Amino acid sequence: MQETSPSSNALSLDALELRVRSCVLCPLAQTRTSVVFGEGNRSADLLFIGEGPGEEEDRSGRPFVGPAGQKLDEVLNSVQIRREDVYISNVVKCRPPGNRVPSHSEMEVCFPYLESQIALIKPALIVTLGNTSTQWLKPDIPGITKSHGSFFSWRGDILLFPMFHPSYLLRNPSREKGSPKYLTWLDIQKVSKWIDEYRRAKNA
Ligand code: URA
Repeated sequence: MQETSPSSNALSLDALELRVRSCVLCPLAQTRTSVVFGEGNRSADLLFIGEGPGEEEDRSGRPFVGPAGQKLDEVLNSVQIRREDVYISNVVKCRPPGNRVPSHSEMEVCFPYLESQIALIKPALIVTLGNTSTQWLKPDIPGITKSHGSFFSWRGDILLFPMFHPSYLLRNPSREKGSPKYLTWLDIQKVSKWIDEYRRAKNA
């Protein structure tokens, strides 16, 4: 397992975070309580990207800490992936009022921040959570119902792996074969296997 430790990119990520914290480039700045920059291991090989902060995230300034976050934790725990070993962020860093889907222009304005995070963290595998982040990062693939559970290349040597959004699992609690929950449990096992093999190869 990786350790969360100060790394050479720590300062740059700090500088970026400082900038994002004072961002007023889109109307979400007017209604937010906190900017939710993202958190986790700054040298993570695994990056999870959601849509945007919800109510509890807006209040606390941390990603995926509300009900969807608890579901995400459950998914990660099922394969012993520790939150502190990965990095978690969103396409937009401020909460869209009423948890609506962020608009195209909000995502467009915010995306350079996520691009910079990716460039600094340098993950090997990006897991997009839900249709919004998947389609934003990889518009040329089918919707989440078809694309979840498959690996796609993203901008060269990074892999992108779509999964259902944890909120979708909360709305569809069935565990029956073929249900979103059932499929997600299979998907996260694929992620775990891939990352284990990646780390083994890297340390060989
Ligand atoms: N939903 C998201 O997409 N991101 C969060 O951080 C919380 C809920």
